[in-house]
Amino acid sequence: MAIIITGVSKGIGKQALEELEKHYDVVGCSRTIQEQETSNKLILKINVNNQKDLQRLVDKTMKKFGKIQALILNAGLGTFSKLEETTEKEYDEMYNTNLKSTFNLLKLALPILKKQNEGQIIAISSMAGLNPVPNGSVYASTKWALQGMIKSLKQELRETNIKVALIQPGSVKTHFFDKTSMTPNPQRILTPKDISRVITFILEQPTTSDIDEISVRPAYNPKRK
Ligand SMILES: NC(=O)c1ccc[n+]([C@@H]2O[C@H](COP(=O)([O-])OP(=O)(O)OC[C@H]3O[C@@H](n4cnc5c(N)ncnc54)[C@H](OP(=O)(O)O)[C@@H]3O)[C@@H](O)[C@H]2O)c1
Repeated sequence: MAIIITGVSKGIGKQALEELEKHYDVVGCSRTIQEQETSNKLILKINVNNQKDLQRLVDKTMKKFGKIQALILNAGLGTFSKLEETTEKEYDEMYNTNLKSTFNLLKLALPILKKQNEGQIIAISSMAGLNPVPNGSVYASTKWALQGMIKSLKQELRETNIKVALIQPGSVKTHFFDKTSMTPNPQRILTPKDISRVITFILEQPTTSDIDEISVRPAYNPKRK
């Protein structure tokens, strides 16, 4: 029974994998990562935008662990510029990675989760999925769309034992901003650990509860290093 996490080479996914592997069977994937296998962990070199890769991710998980306990849809990226300066290539990359890959992976995982009649889906959205983001119109729209997809799916799954949750982080100190012109305020930024804690909180909720969504803002702390 394993937790699948996409995008574990760095940032939120890496931190979540490190925390979760202490207590659970885990399967992590990313494009730039060394494949690895231990008794409770499988790391696969996978591009979530490749359908065959996604099939391999699900097949390998089922072969090794026999069940999907949870699916953490985390892989994502953003570029930030004025709408008219955003290229079609950037648009496609953001929509494919942030939304279409989620759709494709869910299509593969849902029949398994339904057969099990249990499981937890957690999608990493963003505050940008709730608010307008000047110079981030395309990125924000991928996350607004993700919100719509995941909330609708939750309704579809109402009569099942499959739980669905969204997490909307504010700015997090990861590699997300490396290739962008955005510099988040270092005095007002979350850590990957802050989000990993929320993931664990959702995974550990009792059988009687089904968390919808959790938004997390960076605390104001001008003295922090
Ligand atoms: N950082 C923030 O301020 C922030 C705020 C709100 C929401 N988020 C969301 O949080 C999630 C994680 O981002 P992060 O902040 O941790 O950024 P990050 O440090 O850049 O990590 C992104 C992860 O996604 C993986 N990834 C990207 N494209 C992929 C692909 N095609 N196939 C497989 N893996 C892929 C990357 O791995 P490879 O490059 O090795 O493939 C990497 O492990 C994203 O969905 C992002 O939108 C971030």
